[in-house]
Amino acid sequence: MAAAVRLLLRRRLSTAAAAATAPPPTPGSILNPSSPSTPLTSQQKTRLAISLLKSSPPPPPDQILSICRAAALSPETHIDRVAFSLAVSKLKSAPDTLRDLASTVLTPNHAPYAIVLFGQAGLLSDAISTFHSSPSTRSLNALLFACIISGNHAEAARIFQTFPDAHGVKPDTDTFNNIIKSFAESGTIRSFYSVFDEMCKKGVKPNATTFTNAITGFYKEERFDDVEKVIELMKKHGCGESLPVYNVRVHCLCKLGRSGEAKALVNEMLKKGTKPSWVTYGHLIHGFCREGDLDEAKRLYKEMGKKGLEGNCSLYFSLIYFLCKGGDFDTALEVYNEIAPKNWVPCFSTMKMLVNGLAGTSRMDEAKGIIEKMKEKFPAKADSWKEVEEALPQ
Ligand SMILES: *[C@@H]1O[C@H](CO)[C@@H](O)[C@H](O)[C@H]1NC(C)=O
Ligand SMILES: *[C@@H]1O[C@H](CO)[C@@H](O)[C@H](O)[C@H]1NC(C)=O
Repeated sequence: MAAAVRLLLRRRLSTAAAAATAPPPTPGSILNPSSPSTPLTSQQKTRLAISLLKSSPPPPPDQILSICRAAALSPETHIDRVAFSLAVSKLKSAPDTLRDLASTVLTPNHAPYAIVLFGQAGLLSDAISTFHSSPSTRSLNALLFACIISGNHAEAARIFQTFPDAHGVKPDTDTFNNIIKSFAESGTIRSFYSVFDEMCKKGVKPNATTFTNAITGFYKEERFDDVEKVIELMKKHGCGESLPVYNVRVHCLCKLGRSGEAKALVNEMLKKGTKPSWVTYGHLIHGFCREGDLDEAKRLYKEMGKKGLEGNCSLYFSLIYFLCKGGDFDTALEVYNEIAPKNWVPCFSTMKMLVNGLAGTSRMDEAKGIIEKMKEKFPAKADSWKEVEEALPQ
């Protein structure tokens, strides 16, 4: 199966390469064989487009555009949005092609999506002109989001203040949540209170995101009194201290290197009857690892397992990384053995650390066993693993 796909891909790639040099490239020629026996479904086309976009060396801008056109991407589906994002990331240095992509592939109906793509590419003036061509609350929210992802917070503030009146667009909860997020990310969260007043005056209902965005900003600036104030405000507006809110607070404290306080907060939460999730444990484990307290991280990891909670792969990968860094290869191997049956494998550099650590602590058989598995699993990395193997002490 894999071989068949590779063959198909190679054939398509050569067609694609030919299309890049042979004018005029007819739409569809890239992803469709000249005599299609079985036409591809739209999802297959998208998958193929993604592999072509990921190929190395990356296709030239014209070809990226042809690939997207041939796959007839539509932002309605998740996988197509993945393909779009990938195309945009490859077109950062070719703004004209990116404009072509936005104008020919996206209908005016997709203006908010085009705005976000321009933001992703750092082309804020294009995002703004797209807003002008179809102003709406959704476009406004997309524009604020575009400002945030491109790091243009001053522009976010200007747009938030002037665009709604100038273009007759009504801000909604999302609009306010976005501007509060922008404050939080740019060290200007003190502006939260006045914007929150405005929100209430306009009759726009805040939700939990409004408050967690503010809480995140106040933590980031270490304004702990304000965090308490926002929590009171939150309760007054009918948003309870739910698990997601606690998780945001735990994450913020851990990021500040205050994992002990985060743990105390979790205990307080437990007393009030809310149980932690694997996300809570993930933040705590990562926090204690970063602070060098591997014993506490391991204790929490055991506790999480006893409660029957399972994390996502990142949680385990990060724990294995820190255990290796700290020289605890036994526990790192235990954790690895727990996730291996799920086919979850940490990145090459972490696995290399683990293998070298095991070899250095007289567990050569296990080290070699892992190398064999890695070679089998990742043929593309077989040479790198061979190097690791040859460097092991004999
Ligand atoms: C708050 O409202 C916005 C806009 O409707 C929505 O995107 C967001 O998911 C909501 N947050 C929560 C926690 O429901
Ligand atoms: C795992 O969960 C954490 C916390 O919610 C998240 O930040 C991370 O991106 C997730 N990883 C993956 C691979 O989804």
